[in-house]
Amino acid sequence: MTRPVLWFPRRLSDATLERAQANYDCIINWEDGLSTPDEIVAMSARVDGIVPCHSEVFSADVVARLGPRLRIIANHSVGVDHCDLSALAARGIAVTNTPDVLSDATAEIAMLLMLGAARRAVEGDRLVRTGAWQVWSPSFMVGKQVTGARLGIIGMGRVGRAFAEKARGFGMEIHYYNRTRLNPEQEQGATFHDAIESLLAVSDFLSLHCPATPETTGLMNAERFSLLPDGAVIVNTARGALVDEAALLAALSSGKLSAAGLDCFQTEPGGNPAFAAHENIFMLPHIGSATGQTRDAMGFRALDNLDAFFRGDRPGDLL
Ligand code: DGY
Repeated sequence: MTRPVLWFPRRLSDATLERAQANYDCIINWEDGLSTPDEIVAMSARVDGIVPCHSEVFSADVVARLGPRLRIIANHSVGVDHCDLSALAARGIAVTNTPDVLSDATAEIAMLLMLGAARRAVEGDRLVRTGAWQVWSPSFMVGKQVTGARLGIIGMGRVGRAFAEKARGFGMEIHYYNRTRLNPEQEQGATFHDAIESLLAVSDFLSLHCPATPETTGLMNAERFSLLPDGAVIVNTARGALVDEAALLAALSSGKLSAAGLDCFQTEPGGNPAFAAHENIFMLPHIGSATGQTRDAMGFRALDNLDAFFRGDRPGDLL
């Protein structure tokens, strides 16, 4: 029996590629460079499935040109904003993602960003690293305390709930906005807000955990920043598209926000060069899910979906 042919446009973990090669004929981009839209289109004519990351964009234009052989896009990501889902559905191409398995790793990065932003990690690191640390006094490098503060979470899906669980360990009071209210077991005492505006009013710290969709693009704009308590801290480990970056800079410059922790940017890779001059922005290069354990789990989840699909079953994470 001929084996399905898969294309891996990025170099996934060794364990993932080993398992994939045992069961499929694999074309692997060992060099791991980004593919152009034309390269994606050309490769799609040669394969039955593609295992992309969020870095490969399947826009309506690309989808219209995909080859007829391609049957499934098994994403190695939970976010699918790089895929035009309705265009793919119209072409009859199945799409899956990798929920659950990266929730803890991403929540860890959100915690790192929240603490680092609140306690001025960028500035402190720079002072020690460059030998510029010459004084100490009780008023030196005073930050914002996390313990006991109110944490607002927008998007109480798997990652939002994993972050809430970790934040409870810091004695934070959890508030959240979600399209639907969670059941009490999932809520774990968190306070539900049926409007983003009322959530913002109580968010000393605000963390974004919702997907990027046309509805959530620019979710945090100038008007919404103005509703936060003075000196609030924002954390974004979801997608750059959720934040109006010019409005964020204005809110930081005016002191409305005291700091920001960002793992996601409107432009990736690269980020926003205008942020570099602001030491109260603690930044990471989209590494929320970047642990060895989680990378293997993401790869295996994508392969589980492919195995089910090519067996003729419904993949667990079919969108
Ligand atoms: C995801 O899975 O969506 C993460 O952002 C990494 O791609």
